[in-house]
Amino acid sequence: LDNLLAGVRAGGSRVMVVRGEAGIGKSVLLEYVAAQASRVQVTWARGVEADMELPYASLHQACAPFLDGVEELPQPQRDALRVAFGTAVGDPPDRFLVGLAVLTLLTRASETQPVLVLVDDAQWLDQVSLQTLEFVARRLLAEPVAMVFAVRDPEGQSALAGLPALQLKGLDAASAGELLEGAVGGRLEERVR
Ligand SMILES: Nc1ncnc2c1ncn2[C@@H]1O[C@H](COP(=O)(O)OP(=O)(O)O)[C@@H](O)[C@H]1O
Ligand SMILES: [Mg+2]
Repeated sequence: LDNLLAGVRAGGSRVMVVRGEAGIGKSVLLEYVAAQASRVQVTWARGVEADMELPYASLHQACAPFLDGVEELPQPQRDALRVAFGTAVGDPPDRFLVGLAVLTLLTRASETQPVLVLVDDAQWLDQVSLQTLEFVARRLLAEPVAMVFAVRDPEGQSALAGLPALQLKGLDAASAGELLEGAVGGRLEERVR
């Protein structure tokens, strides 16, 4: 993840999916990346189980810092995104156009400063937001845009398949034993003192 930040600062796009079971430390890692990301525009989307039925809710959250740029989008993309985000009336937008619109929006924003999109609890994103963010992740080329998704196993196992992934696992028995021994030893000393 440090390399990902270095890469995007150097002007290249980067994508990483952090996978692991609940409580393994995915959100902590995303917070870590955000804390390291000085001189980078950081935006978050957080999946919320109760909002899964609200189309485009999480995409809207991710795009919030860049919404000024919507006016400058090519017209078909602009119209699609406006309808998706409820600032214009129209038939349900073409998802491809929405995807292109977000790609353009992020790419243009990254001309000022690299962009980092952090998506936590991707297993709880509404479906079109996940599809769109995944589309963008697969289309990134040489623009300074990085995306990090955290997704819970096993719920989100099939989501974001094929993207570069970091699988978080618990400590093996030996390391866990060492840690436990160290901790039990750290506490005894305190008692003696
Ligand atoms: N490396 C770490 N150092 C300290 N605490 C951690 C670390 N990783 C996880 N934790 C703690 O474990 C708990 C679960 O971590 P979290 O990142 O919320 O897991 P997840 O997002 O994978 O469900 C949190 O309370 C967090 O503070
Ligand atoms: Mg979490």
